[in-house]
Amino acid sequence: MIKILTIHGPNLNILGEREPDIYGNITIEQINQALKQKASNEDVEIEIIQSNHEGEIVDLIGKAKDNFDGILINPAAYTHTSIAIRDALSASNLPCVEVHLSNIYAREKFRHTSLTAPVVKGQICGFGLYSYILGLEALLETIKNKSRKKNSQGEN
Ligand code: DQA
Repeated sequence: MIKILTIHGPNLNILGEREPDIYGNITIEQINQALKQKASNEDVEIEIIQSNHEGEIVDLIGKAKDNFDGILINPAAYTHTSIAIRDALSASNLPCVEVHLSNIYAREKFRHTSLTAPVVKGQICGFGLYSYILGLEALLETIKNKSRKKNSQGEN
């Protein structure tokens, strides 16, 4: 069974009360519920963790290799600042998809740079909760393609 690790970065625990004009009224529990529903429809296992701490996120990514098939991550503010999280994602060798609730390119200039985007399979932003659902779909497709490729190489 495919196993996915979802990581929510800093301040995503206060969604719902945090800048609702930007992030809407959606709570992290609602996002997690929607992800779990989608995962169960797809017959996939999902573990979801939120952390406000850069080092903890680095540790989670570092340990993911042995236990998960892919990572769905919203690095939040660390997107724009954390070389450590970028390096951890890059070193994990796992398919990773980056998501954001808001369209980071339509906001302040400092949000236009993602340090993590170049080392993930792709980035989805601007669709609120649906960014996560699309991100999970894209991640599953990537993982399935990878295993199809591996299997067909095995046949040759
Ligand atoms: C965010 C965008 C980031 O710029 C910001 O720091 C966040 C949330 C998003 O999901 O839109 O905390 O990652």
